Amino acid sequence: MTISNVGIVGCGLMGHGIAQVASQGGCEVTVVEADADALEKGLKRIDGSIAKLVEKGKLTAEAAAGVRNRLHPSTRIQDLSNCDLVVEAIVENLDVKKKLFADLGKITKENCILASNTSSFPIGEMGDASGRPGKMVGLHFFNPVQLMQLVEVVRTPKTEEAAFAAAFEFGKRCGKTPVAAKDTPGFIVNRLLVPYLLEAIRMIERGDATPRDIDTAMRLGCNFPMGPVHLLDYVGLDTTQFIADGWEKRYPNESLFKVPGILKKLVAEKKMGRKSGRGFYEWEGDKPKA
Ligand SMILES: NC(=O)c1ccc[n+]([C@@H]2O[C@H](COP(=O)([O-])OP(=O)(O)OC[C@H]3O[C@@H](n4cnc5c(N)ncnc54)[C@H](O)[C@@H]3O)[C@@H](O)[C@H]2O)c1
Repeated sequence: MTISNVGIVGCGLMGHGIAQVASQGGCEVTVVEADADALEKGLKRIDGSIAKLVEKGKLTAEAAAGVRNRLHPSTRIQDLSNCDLVVEAIVENLDVKKKLFADLGKITKENCILASNTSSFPIGEMGDASGRPGKMVGLHFFNPVQLMQLVEVVRTPKTEEAAFAAAFEFGKRCGKTPVAAKDTPGFIVNRLLVPYLLEAIRMIERGDATPRDIDTAMRLGCNFPMGPVHLLDYVGLDTTQFIADGWEKRYPNESLFKVPGILKKLVAEKKMGRKSGRGFYEWEGDKPKA
């Protein structure tokens, strides 16, 4: 099964990157947004990213024009009727995603593969909503998509082998290294990363060590490029809380997923980290204050 026509729904932070790498991989890409303004914003991001690649000599002007010409913007999901694969990258809300997949199940061709870029929801539930669970996979790209090498390709017990294999090949075509994951909370990366981050917060809560010492320990002791508390603040405390909240509700007996009180408190006080200037650290632009 070859994938040539790809649909991307949502052209935000993730969707614009996925659309770009799919086009760079030679696919014809229909990008669907909720409205014309959001679409224009997403396309501007792509143009900016392509221009940088040309500037750095990583893409010729001719290749850049090809990437842009293979992108077909739209505000109608009906325009995805001829796609071999549709990747959803809309808001992280399961009900909204299920509604979209129910529509996609009706609009797309019968052998079209349906994929979600969700970070935290079960792929199987979206597959069931689509009415085509055999064609449903997760394609979990990482931010920023243009730079991050990994894509997790997620299969549910109902995913057909051919659909999984085609999605895996698509990941390669986007220039990424795909890994196979099952439909378990957090797949591979977040299943390891989120409990690690939450445990760092619990260490602070217990008074075991300071944020700075935890970060120094993991940087110098494990050669991690960034310590966990720095990373939490960098990504946004609300993002980690959102994922952990959902998992705690869904898996109340898993102690690794329990949301620490100080995380809830900081988010309630709008101390989200880098984006709000204050989290576990105080921030000056892109860097925590010394
Ligand atoms: N941000 C990250 O670091 C990251 C990493 C991996 C996965 N994800 C996942 O990717 C998905 C998208 O996240 P994001 O950060 O790009 O969000 P975002 O808010 O930047 O982009 C979402 C876009 O979807 C559009 N949209 C919403 N509903 C729509 C609809 N029904 N039809 C068409 N467009 C619609 C919005 O207008 C918006 O532009 C989420 O599921 C998120 O969990 C995010």
